[in-house]
Amino acid sequence: MRIVLLGPPGAGKGTQGERLVKKYNIPHISTGDIFRAAIKEGTELGLKAKEYMDKGELVPDELVVNIVKERLKQPDCDNGYLLDGFPRTLAQAEALDEALQEMGTPLTGVVNVDVDQEELVERLTGRRVCRSCGSSFHVQFNPPKVRSVCDKCGGELYQRSDDTVETVKQRLEVYNNQTEPLIKYYDEKGILFTVDGSKDIDEVFKEITSVLDKQ
Ligand code: AP5
Ligand code: ZN
Repeated sequence: MRIVLLGPPGAGKGTQGERLVKKYNIPHISTGDIFRAAIKEGTELGLKAKEYMDKGELVPDELVVNIVKERLKQPDCDNGYLLDGFPRTLAQAEALDEALQEMGTPLTGVVNVDVDQEELVERLTGRRVCRSCGSSFHVQFNPPKVRSVCDKCGGELYQRSDDTVETVKQRLEVYNNQTEPLIKYYDEKGILFTVDGSKDIDEVFKEITSVLDKQ
C-alpha cells in the first residue's frame, strides 16, 4: 500500500497517519517531521528548513525531493509507505511520479482530507505535540488525560512555533496557492479519494480505511 495523505495544514494528516501506519504496518514518512528532527539535531538541513518553516513558507523543492527519494529506497518501504505532507507542489508531484515510475511502483492512492479553513485555524492554534514521540493532541478536541503530558509516552507537550495565528494564516495561503492544485492533478490520474475530515477522529479514520481496504 503506497499512499499519499493530502490536505491543508491541520486537516489531521498526522493524526490519521499515525493510526493508518499501525493498521497497515507501513512506515510513516512525514517531511515536516523529518525537518523538525533535523532542526532539533541542529544539522545544516535543519538550519535551512527552519528559515522557511518559521515564516510558514515551503522549503525549496530540490531539498525536499532528494530527501524523499532517498527515503523511499530504504528496505522498510518495500511493502509500502504513507507519505504525509509530501508532495506539496506540482513540481514535487511530478518528481515523485518520475521516481516511482523508475522504481516500477506506482501510488496505490491519494487520500485528500477535506476540512473548512475556519476550522483549521482553531485546530492548529489549539494543537499540542509530544516532544518525545511526536503525537498530536488538541486542548479541546483531543485533550490529553493529564494537562501538558502525552497519554502515549508521558512526554512533555508543547506548541509548535508555526502554530501561531499569523503563521497559520500564511500556511493556509501557501496551501491554497501551491498545494491545492494537486487535488486536480491526482483526480485526473484517477487515484484521488476525498474524505470529509471535519468529522470526529474515529469517523474520519473509518472513512479512510473503508476507501483504502477496497484498493
Ligand atoms: P507539516 O509538518 O507537514 O505541517 P502541515 O502540513 O502544515 O500539517 P500539520 O502537521 O500542521 O497538520 P496535520 O494535517 O498533520 O494535522 P494534525 O493531525 O496535527 O509541515 C510543516 C512545515 O514544514 C511546512 O509549513 C513547510 O515549511 C515544511 N514542509 C513540510 N513538508 C514540505 C514539503 N513537502 N515541501 C516543502 N516544505 C515542506 O491535526 C491538527 C490538530 O487538529 C491537532 O491538534 C489534532 O489533535 C486536531 N485534530 C485532528 N483531527 C481532528 C478531527 N477530526 N477533529 C478535531 N480535531 C482534530
Ligand atoms: Zn509522547
